[in-house]
Amino acid sequence: SAAELDIVPLATRIGAEIRGVRLSGSLSAEVFLAIKQALLRHKVIFFRGQGHLDDAGHEAFGRLWGDTVPHPTVPPPQGTTLLELDSEHGGRANSWHTDVTFQAAYPQVAILRAVLIPEVGGDTVWANTGAAYEHLPPDLKDLAGRLWAVHGNDYDYAATRSVETEDAGVKRYREVFTSRLIEAEHPVVRVHPETGERTLVLGHFVKRLLGYSTQDSLRLFDIFESHILRPENTVRWRWRQDDVAIWDNRATQHYAINDYGAKKRVVRRVTIAGDAPVSLDG
Ligand code: SIN
Repeated sequence: SAAELDIVPLATRIGAEIRGVRLSGSLSAEVFLAIKQALLRHKVIFFRGQGHLDDAGHEAFGRLWGDTVPHPTVPPPQGTTLLELDSEHGGRANSWHTDVTFQAAYPQVAILRAVLIPEVGGDTVWANTGAAYEHLPPDLKDLAGRLWAVHGNDYDYAATRSVETEDAGVKRYREVFTSRLIEAEHPVVRVHPETGERTLVLGHFVKRLLGYSTQDSLRLFDIFESHILRPENTVRWRWRQDDVAIWDNRATQHYAINDYGAKKRVVRRVTIAGDAPVSLDG
């Protein structure tokens, strides 16, 4: 059975803070189950004050969820399976995405630890892709359920960032990110393997929709993506150092707000292996 946790919802559709838990690899099965149930319900959950976690502790906690996997192209900090995003090295995830959807089986869960956070700015926003599907008009639901998309790690940076503002760090990060090209096809609607919920699989790695021209792909993409990004489907987290956020990568997108200029921001992520999405018709 699951333990009782102190869960404070931050909005009705997505996001909750969980208080009074010290995350570690040795949590009891009951507490871990309660955290997992809270994640499936709220899609992204937040824990303040986890400063006791170092890289090893972060990974040990991650292994409770499944296999921890390094990023397919970005080398981890030595001796770890982590992904580090350091603003000084171009690690600014400021466009809407679900993590690593260019892989056939993409991660199920991500656990992000705030290592260094600017005094102001650098918040992250998450959106609930299940609520987005649920609130689509019926005809758009039907269409989404028939669409498939090609995702790639060489997605069009120019579409979301102005090239003039791309500094040397961002350029280098992009080169590492795309050092090996990886693509996968996914249904635009997937059935969540644990909840049975239907969620939209889109985000910035989408290159085109199968059977559609680039122009039509872009227009259709924008229609569905704009439903995902309605403020009603989102929650915004104001980070403090040593916070941990955990998101269900099968039911969310996120965006790291790049509003802190030359200030340094460093986060580290443990990523949990997932399954290939299952479409509505199996
Ligand atoms: C990520 O996209 O995994 C990182 C999000 C963040 O830096 O807040």
